[in-house]
Amino acid sequence: MKFSKRAEKISPFYVMEVAKAAQQLAQEVAHGPEPMIFLNIGEPDYTAPAQVQAAAQESIASGRTQYTNALGLEPLRQAISDWYRSRFGIQVPAQRIVVTAGASAALQLACLALINPGDEILMPDPSYPCNRHFVSAAEGVAQLIPTGAAERYQLSAEHVATHWGAQTRGVLLASPSNPTGTSIDPAELRRIHEVVQSKGGITIVDEIYLGLSYDEAFGHSALAISDDIISINSFSKYFNMTGWRLGWMVVPEAMVPVVERLAQNLFICPSTVAQHAALACFSTDSIAEFERRRAEFKARRDYFLPALRELGFGIDVMPDGAFYAWADCTPLCAKLGVQDSWEFAYALMERAHLAITPGRDFGTADTARYVRFSTANSMEQLQEAVRRMQRLFA
Ligand SMILES: Cc1ncc(COP(=O)(O)O)c(C=O)c1O
Repeated sequence: MKFSKRAEKISPFYVMEVAKAAQQLAQEVAHGPEPMIFLNIGEPDYTAPAQVQAAAQESIASGRTQYTNALGLEPLRQAISDWYRSRFGIQVPAQRIVVTAGASAALQLACLALINPGDEILMPDPSYPCNRHFVSAAEGVAQLIPTGAAERYQLSAEHVATHWGAQTRGVLLASPSNPTGTSIDPAELRRIHEVVQSKGGITIVDEIYLGLSYDEAFGHSALAISDDIISINSFSKYFNMTGWRLGWMVVPEAMVPVVERLAQNLFICPSTVAQHAALACFSTDSIAEFERRRAEFKARRDYFLPALRELGFGIDVMPDGAFYAWADCTPLCAKLGVQDSWEFAYALMERAHLAITPGRDFGTADTARYVRFSTANSMEQLQEAVRRMQRLFA
């Protein structure tokens, strides 16, 4: 069978190999003294609160399951708009909000609407692997620019100005980032957007972890900077609804009809049941529950990151959001007799039953040195993981 060049350009998720090996080993050690602890999972360990589940059941029981408008239910678009006002103090009109099948569909729609074959999109290295694949599925070219702790693993305005070439169409950033949990300084984002605008380009900011921010200095939406920025968001992370497949994006007014046309044809609409359920996310009770969970995510970060440093991992910048730690494991590789982060992840899995993610998928620049820990696990499990690493590195 012959497949498209487009499909061939999408590289496999190497980390799935590690995750599969961890699952396999987990079954073998499940009843032993040290069952597997999963610190490789990129989704909250919470599920949708009871009132959100009830809203989904009510939507099914009452037969509200037909297709909706391609842009999403009007009350949901309004509820998201209200959330921007109450949580971030910004006015985002509901007409500019497009509800989608997760941030993934929003990213796909944004790339299809804006990228022509051969257009280059600047992105930081490391970054979330699927984002460069959305660019390449639209026949664009993702240009990864190596970043470090000094710029919080994010692009700077200087990077953008220096790397902007004849084919460059724009930037795709994620703030807070996966795998680093670090955000772009708002002042730097403003400067980046100024450079992009001076070139007539586009700024797309994936803000899927914005709800899970722990530092006032960074927890602001890019939408506060300009109505021309395209912001991607989701019910997956802060709202704990990963498998429900619901997200949204905020686009400039002129882009709405273009995205609507694409969404009508490619998706018809996002899941109707998930949309009715998501309406229940914005009640006072639900928001209180999400805020309680956010505080728990922060407490885990505050415990686990210093513990990793104490163990000898290099973490040069404290994550200000999400639930990840991007840790340089090279100081510890020699202790385990391994060469790089790939081997390190396997060693941790086999010798301490800890599943983590090696850096490989997130870029090419420095990723052989880094592993990603996810703190989307209970405090007890994080404490046990630290105990096992203390023993292993002793
Ligand atoms: C940075 C980033 N963007 C987008 C996504 C996709 O999320 P969704 O479940 O909303 O499609 C993820 C998922 O982990 C992510 O980490």
